[in-house]
Amino acid sequence: MRNSRVCIAAIMKSVSFAPNLIRDKTKRMAQRTCPSAGERELPVKLVKYISNPASAGKDTAGIIGNAKNALQKIFILLRNRTGHDFSVYKKSTVCRRIERRMRINNLNRVTEYLRYLQIHPQEPDLLFRELLIGVTDFFRDPEAFEALLKKGLPLLLENRPRNSVIRAWVIGCSTGEEAYSLAMLLRVFLSKKKSGVHKFRIFATDIDKNSLAAARLGVYPSVISADLSEARLRKYFIIEDDKYRVRRELREMIHFAAQDIITDPPFTGLDVISCRNVLIYLNSEVQKKLFQLFHGALNPSGLLFLGNCESPGSSGSLFKPVDRRHKIFSRREATDSQGEPIGLPPFLPYRVKKENGTDIRAGLSLSYVSGVTEAEIDSQKRASA
Ligand SMILES: C[S@@+](CC[C@H](N)C(=O)[O-])C[C@H]1O[C@@H](n2cnc3c(N)ncnc32)[C@H](O)[C@@H]1O
Repeated sequence: MRNSRVCIAAIMKSVSFAPNLIRDKTKRMAQRTCPSAGERELPVKLVKYISNPASAGKDTAGIIGNAKNALQKIFILLRNRTGHDFSVYKKSTVCRRIERRMRINNLNRVTEYLRYLQIHPQEPDLLFRELLIGVTDFFRDPEAFEALLKKGLPLLLENRPRNSVIRAWVIGCSTGEEAYSLAMLLRVFLSKKKSGVHKFRIFATDIDKNSLAAARLGVYPSVISADLSEARLRKYFIIEDDKYRVRRELREMIHFAAQDIITDPPFTGLDVISCRNVLIYLNSEVQKKLFQLFHGALNPSGLLFLGNCESPGSSGSLFKPVDRRHKIFSRREATDSQGEPIGLPPFLPYRVKKENGTDIRAGLSLSYVSGVTEAEIDSQKRASA
């Protein structure tokens, strides 16, 4: 019974965000942690019950379809309050999240919810957090990480100068699990190679500052043992008050920073971009622009690692599959119809958020973010103004 409780605690935090994914995860976790069939059934049944829309008591399907005007106003209100533009996110996802907030606040019409947002100062922040969907895990999709280790990373060492540093960017890193997973993988990979490439640096970004604070802390509940082997737990974590804390050596390999992938300047000169389960929430037009941005940010044979349900789609000319099933791609030189390399236009302009005339991107120097000088960024901004 205790195992069932641990299992339930792990899933409760995220069940409302991605029910299908959580149902699968619960099943896996129950199989690993609950010895008896009876115990195994309990968490699975509970998740099914909680995530079933009927259990919410009200059918709100399509509520927003007839209230486009109110929806636009909600986007503007959110943009003014948080600085982030949710009008480019997939409408179906945004509507589901808004409908959930409406149900919680017992509101039936989206116009009522708009009014509610205007008069309750905390609600825009609550909706913002609802929209971010920070569900994540260590080694989420373990086979994909295995494929990255075996098929993807070795490509990075081909024709590589000795003692160079591998640079990776984890986009939409949430509470850090993906970035730490990649760090563990790179540690193992580089320690086995005698190629002279010994170092790596990971930049991990998100728009959710609360998640980033948790990521920097690197403290996780004991249920992470369902996703990590004993050996990894021993090697990379220390136990603190019934929790696991990522060891300092690993934490120091990662820089966590606030960055909006849609509007802020990217990192450049990268060997790996891991952008998993973020694009899936964005509309196809923005996805296309982001593939262009990733292409520009990667080194010539850099790797792109996507989530299970994501792929470059119509941007296939920019990336070739290394392992299509596990969503690992490598950068392709962009060519014209004659096969000649072409230079893509830079993905500009980047919006610089200003508050009282000051750049409010917390703790970030622009040159640190993009690897180019402040003067270059200023001139880019002037050109795009
Ligand atoms: C479902 S989680 C994915 C976490 C992790 N990448 C994984 O696959 O386990 C999506 C993350 O993307 C972040 N996100 C959403 N919009 C973003 C944006 N415009 N720029 C950067 N991060 C964003 C959210 O805050 C959330 O942490």
